[in-house]
Amino acid sequence: MDADGLRRLLARTAELAADHLEADLETPVSRPVAVTELVAALGGPLPVAPSDPLEVVEALARDAAPGLVRTNGGRYFGFVEGGVLPASLAADWLSSTYDQNPAFHVLSPTAAALELVCSGWLLDLLRLPPDASVGFTTGAQLANVAGLAAARGEVLRRVGWDVDADGLPGAPPVTVVVGEERHATIGRALRFLGLGERRVIVVPADDQGRMQPGPLRDAISDGPAIVCAQAGNVNTGASDPFRAICETAHEAGAWVHVDGAFGLWAAASPAHRHLVDGVDLADSWATDGHKWLNVPYDGGFVICADPEAHRRAMTLSASYLARADGGRDGTDWTPESSRRARVFATWAALRSLGRDGVGDLVARCCAHTHEFVRLLADDPEVTVLNEVVLNQALVRVAADDARTLAVAAEVQREGVVWLGTTVRRGVTSLRISVSDQATTDEDIEVAAAAVRRAIATTA
Ligand SMILES: Cc1ncc(COP(=O)(O)O)c(C=O)c1O
Repeated sequence: MDADGLRRLLARTAELAADHLEADLETPVSRPVAVTELVAALGGPLPVAPSDPLEVVEALARDAAPGLVRTNGGRYFGFVEGGVLPASLAADWLSSTYDQNPAFHVLSPTAAALELVCSGWLLDLLRLPPDASVGFTTGAQLANVAGLAAARGEVLRRVGWDVDADGLPGAPPVTVVVGEERHATIGRALRFLGLGERRVIVVPADDQGRMQPGPLRDAISDGPAIVCAQAGNVNTGASDPFRAICETAHEAGAWVHVDGAFGLWAAASPAHRHLVDGVDLADSWATDGHKWLNVPYDGGFVICADPEAHRRAMTLSASYLARADGGRDGTDWTPESSRRARVFATWAALRSLGRDGVGDLVARCCAHTHEFVRLLADDPEVTVLNEVVLNQALVRVAADDARTLAVAAEVQREGVVWLGTTVRRGVTSLRISVSDQATTDEDIEVAAAAVRRAIATTA
């Protein structure tokens, strides 16, 4: 493709992207579409001959459209889906344009520098130890794997076992303690690490899902031990009492890993910081950029107070892999070798928002969640099931599972907003998460009106 053609292609792509973002309010958040229709439109036999790149992009934009869910927009309240900050979106395009690989410093001194800069900024913003190490992962799932790998290596090293060299067969048993309401990705991380999803000791949680420190004391026995705590319960938004957990765990010589996919960001808001009091006392943390920081997928961070334990668990070497003195080799801190330079989008998010902007984003989402609930709460059929402390709310209709599911289905069918459901402790509820910087006061009014309409329609 010649230079003019490339310029036309990129300009048209930018136009298609802007059209998509501008169409936000006129288009349903999601609509029913059969995957077979999408496959038929996008598929067929593998093309034999090459196609004009411009035609390829036009076809993608046209044929993908019916199956796109507007998770990036102010009216999506499902799962915990952050949106995309404008600067982050543009920076992400550049990272693909530059096609940098941050595995090794020599492959991209710029990516290495951005990772160093963002490590410092993230630790500052999240108020974690300034000399902790940071790895840039796909998301909290792999950040949990990396943090728990560092934990496993270090607690075994302290009793004279090198798990990286000798593996787990014959190793002293590692006690893993988890809260009753841990996220599913903790279980999967334990599976990957050979620690076993079922071999854990489960500490009961209180009514908001917070691990209880009293029973934790009894759960940790002598020997290598890891405690998995949580910032931001995926249903209630509640965080564990970290100060008590860390004191108890550290007294017993255990390592504390915190899964804070979204809840760790409470530390960035002065008004919400108390919710994660003591979280800085832990040994490792997993969090996401693609949730509350509103960077595009994908982007997560593993953070470790013990950089040597982190590096030992992740690093790799081979004779052809050049190391630069004093450089940062990103592969030392993540479970991946080659990967995209997702740090570009993180750098742009942090640079464009600054400390105050991130704090405002977190506080605004929390205030919007409160307002959403307030606009529903005077309906006699509505019960709010959780203490709304962060950006998560659980709302039940008519004290009835089937009716609550019917309301969610009606909201989703109408397509003005989207929210999902959950089952917590056997009780079904609507699950509201406000995580997008684009959500406005008006969006919250529109969303509450949509839920109230669905309650009336399903009566
Ligand atoms: C508490 C918690 N941990 C881990 C995850 C997994 O995050 P990711 O899907 O980004 O890997 C989530 C996602 O919702 C979460 O809420």
